[in-house]
Amino acid sequence: MEQYLAEGEIGDKAQEIRGWCAGCANGQEAYTLAMTMEDAHLTGSLKKPYKLWASDISQKAIQTATKGVYPMAEYVRLPANWRKAYMHLLPNGCEVRKNIKQNLNFKQENILLPDQTRGKFDYIFCRNVLIYFDEVTYKKLLKIFWDSLQPDGYLF
Ligand SMILES: C[S@@+](CC[C@H](N)C(=O)[O-])C[C@H]1O[C@@H](n2cnc3c(N)ncnc32)[C@H](O)[C@@H]1O
Repeated sequence: MEQYLAEGEIGDKAQEIRGWCAGCANGQEAYTLAMTMEDAHLTGSLKKPYKLWASDISQKAIQTATKGVYPMAEYVRLPANWRKAYMHLLPNGCEVRKNIKQNLNFKQENILLPDQTRGKFDYIFCRNVLIYFDEVTYKKLLKIFWDSLQPDGYLF
C-alpha cells in the first residue's frame, strides 16, 4: 500500500483517500490499513487525509471492531513502533488509540447489496471473504466493487 501511495498512484486528484475494508470481521484488517496510512503520513509519502469504511454482516463483529479492544495475544504480534504509536495498554489487553479510530467508520451491512451512500473508493481490500461465495455471488460482488471504485482505484 505504502508503495502505491509513494508512487502517487492512489487518489491523485482526490481531497482525501477513501478506502473500504469489505468483510472486516473484528476489525484487525481495517486497523492494520489505518496504521499503514498513518505510517505513510509520518514518512511523508501520504499528504492527504484518509478515511476508511469497514463493513461486516455480523453485528457482533462490528461491535468488537468499533471498540477496538483486543487481548494481549494480538498486541504482542504487532511491530514495536505500532504498539507505541497506535495502541495503549489495558489491564487485560490493549486498545487502538483515538488517532487511528477517528479515521475509521465501521458499519454492519451486507456487502452484497449495492449501497449508493458508500460513495466511491480509491482502494478496496477484501481478504478471505470471496472464498465463501459461489461463482454467481462472487461475480455479483466483483461488479459491486467495480462500481464502487474510482476509475483509477485498486482492488486488493
Ligand atoms: C474469514 S473473515 C475475514 C476477515 C478479514 N477480512 C480478515 O481477513 O482478517 C470473513 C468475514 O466476512 C464476513 N462476511 C461474509 N459474508 C458477508 C457479507 N455478505 N457481507 C458482509 N460481510 C460478510 C463474515 O461475517 C466474516 O467476518
